[in-house]
Amino acid sequence: MKNLITLLIAILLFSCSEKKEEKTKEEFTMQTNNDSRISLNLNAMQKQHQLSNMRSHLEAVQNLIMLISNDDYEKASKVAYKQLGSTTEMKLMCASFGNKKFENMGLNFHKDADNLSEILKTKDKTKSLQALSKTMNSCVSCHATFRQ
Ligand code: HEC
Repeated sequence: MKNLITLLIAILLFSCSEKKEEKTKEEFTMQTNNDSRISLNLNAMQKQHQLSNMRSHLEAVQNLIMLISNDDYEKASKVAYKQLGSTTEMKLMCASFGNKKFENMGLNFHKDADNLSEILKTKDKTKSLQALSKTMNSCVSCHATFRQ
């Protein structure tokens, strides 16, 4: 009897975990089918390049939050410009994907970061955080519009 109960519990657990897996697959398919973002049709090399650039954007934002919280505005201002601002490298990168709308969104993002870099020099925490938030609006809206 004890063995039978153990067996029943095992079957029940097994079928539950199977169902869970099915649902996850279903959800995944739904997500990819509903992904109406514009594809940039990047090749494998461009993809790698873009993702590594994006990871460094994320790192820059983390760095900025840490520096602002430590009142290290001079360094924060440099990070904002060098890693997120309108440097020649960034401008070329935005243009290299061959999509004008993407390029413009990218350039506006870098301009917001230039502005953030200037505001950081005033050492005003509230204004700095507002400017960081405005810059990050560009991250959010581009991600909602484009995919690789
Ligand atoms: C002009 C468009 C644009 C802007 C601005 C932008 N991104 Fe991205 N980012 C993309 C695209 C396109 C992808 C690929 C998404 C996909 O294919 O699902 C991406 C992917 C990423 C990834 C995934 C990296 C990986 O290795 O998987 C991270 C993290 C990221 N972006 C962070 C940021 C942050 C942080 C900002 C702002 C500070 C930002 N991005 C601004 C277009 C942009």
